[in-house]
Amino acid sequence: MQNKPSEPKITDSPEEKQVALLKLAREHGQRLAAMEEKLELCYNELKELNYAHLLHDGMRESSWVKNQTFDLHNWAANYSFIYLLFRILDKMEPQNILEFGLGQTTKLTTQYIAHKNPKAYLNVCEHSLDWIQIYQPELPKHEHILINHLDLEYFEYRRKKNDKYAGLLELVGDQKFDLIIVDGPVGGGKNLPRSNVVDLICHGNLSENFVIIFDDAERVGEKNTIRKTQAALRKKSIAFHTFERFGIKRQAYIVSKSRAFASFL
Ligand SMILES: C[S@@+](CC[C@H](N)C(=O)[O-])C[C@H]1O[C@@H](n2cnc3c(N)ncnc32)[C@H](O)[C@@H]1O
Repeated sequence: MQNKPSEPKITDSPEEKQVALLKLAREHGQRLAAMEEKLELCYNELKELNYAHLLHDGMRESSWVKNQTFDLHNWAANYSFIYLLFRILDKMEPQNILEFGLGQTTKLTTQYIAHKNPKAYLNVCEHSLDWIQIYQPELPKHEHILINHLDLEYFEYRRKKNDKYAGLLELVGDQKFDLIIVDGPVGGGKNLPRSNVVDLICHGNLSENFVIIFDDAERVGEKNTIRKTQAALRKKSIAFHTFERFGIKRQAYIVSKSRAFASFL
């Protein structure tokens, strides 16, 4: 007759009991953390779906969003971003828009100029000529819509290589912007990405009434850029209010006190 495999030894030693209990507690902690992470992802997906519904409902009656087809996945803007951008354009009617990073957001900003506020201006900055060639034919044309191809310049920040659009201050001159969309150049993995906005504030290119939108505000690098932007505003004694929105990605909004109601849109 074969012997049964021996049961794990149960010992009364307090030291061994303590070690076993600690191991169990650690395993439970890890399982709980993994579950919390999944729950957060599900919650974000749910918020994203809700924003998708809000966007579809909101645009149904819109006279100016004639092309309502957006491809909101991968590197593009997500639904929480496009929804609030739509509401800001629709309700606040900015006069001078600066957009970093051509793409899905530009489908909306160009329609705003072409069909809602033809007196307003839009400057889009994009480093990739290929990307411009792919996208530009889809966009409405208007003399106030300028798609600018800008090279990238590189600098080191905290021992990492970062990039930003070159020659931006020369391009914009003394223009003042009341809406700045910060979603380019490509941001992931950098620790001070998309920092042109900080230069603009130091240079005095912000209108008295303003909205600045940062996409990918959940990332460490973008958080640094947001903090630098806030510091630049404080240095200029410009009062501001910050809030965030999120679905599967997070956006931070820095707005003048006069535009604080953007957080209720
Ligand atoms: C994060 S994307 C966002 C651009 C835009 N605001 C949007 O909503 O789609 C920033 C930059 O990534 C690049 N990009 C975006 N999608 C890409 C793709 N599928 N392949 C290659 N580059 C891409 C473009 O140069 C763009 O300016």
